[in-house]
Amino acid sequence: MFGYTKIFDPAYYEAFNGWCKKLYDWGFEKEHLVTCNGIIPALYELVDYITNEYEKILIVTPFYAYFKHAVDFNKRELVTSDLIEKDNYYTIDFDDFEAKAKDDRVTLCIFCNPHNPSGRVWTEEELKRVGQICLDNNVMVISDEIHCDLLRNGKKHTPLAKLFPDTDQIITCMAPSKTFNMAGFMISNIIIPNEKIRSIYKARHYDFENPLSVVAAQAAYTDGYDWLC
Ligand SMILES: Cc1ncc(COP(=O)(O)O)c(C=O)c1O
Repeated sequence: MFGYTKIFDPAYYEAFNGWCKKLYDWGFEKEHLVTCNGIIPALYELVDYITNEYEKILIVTPFYAYFKHAVDFNKRELVTSDLIEKDNYYTIDFDDFEAKAKDDRVTLCIFCNPHNPSGRVWTEEELKRVGQICLDNNVMVISDEIHCDLLRNGKKHTPLAKLFPDTDQIITCMAPSKTFNMAGFMISNIIIPNEKIRSIYKARHYDFENPLSVVAAQAAYTDGYDWLC
């Protein structure tokens, strides 16, 4: 860990990893965790760190507009795959998604799990297909899971990375901002298992965290479960 999070090492990691274990039966290595002032600022950086100017980024559409802004900001080419809408229920057009992932120049997919704006909580089967298509075609995935802690009763979130424990090609983004109405604290968790991308992030990211935000997020992850549930 680095920056102020280091001051709270290993307590911050333990609090957040413990949260993921409790809610999702999924954990990650401490070294893989970095923070950012938001998931969107992290996307702006990661698109730059992962892709070069000739490469393209795949996103299912409709999408949260800032996904495209991160692509545009870095002057990368966007490739979209339309979701199929039937009776207001959205599903992935896997044939189209796979055809687009097969383009050699598509090297990154920004995926939203659960999906904003459709509200879909993807099934494990859908997630496995998305992940497998990306891995089979050397497409790294950034899985934005910012809404994962806020599901209707009876719905279950599965982190995409949980389904692919042997790969380092899936970056997971989570945050306390939506969960605990803490957007003003400007802290998000970015789990980057890939050593190369993580070291670029650490070298180039302007590492500013408000220590109060780290304390607040740590407290929320440690003691906030009863309040949330
Ligand atoms: C899918 C998604 N990702 C990210 C964000 C914002 O993330 P942050 O405030 O951490 O940059 C939002 C906010 O609405 C969102 O819907």
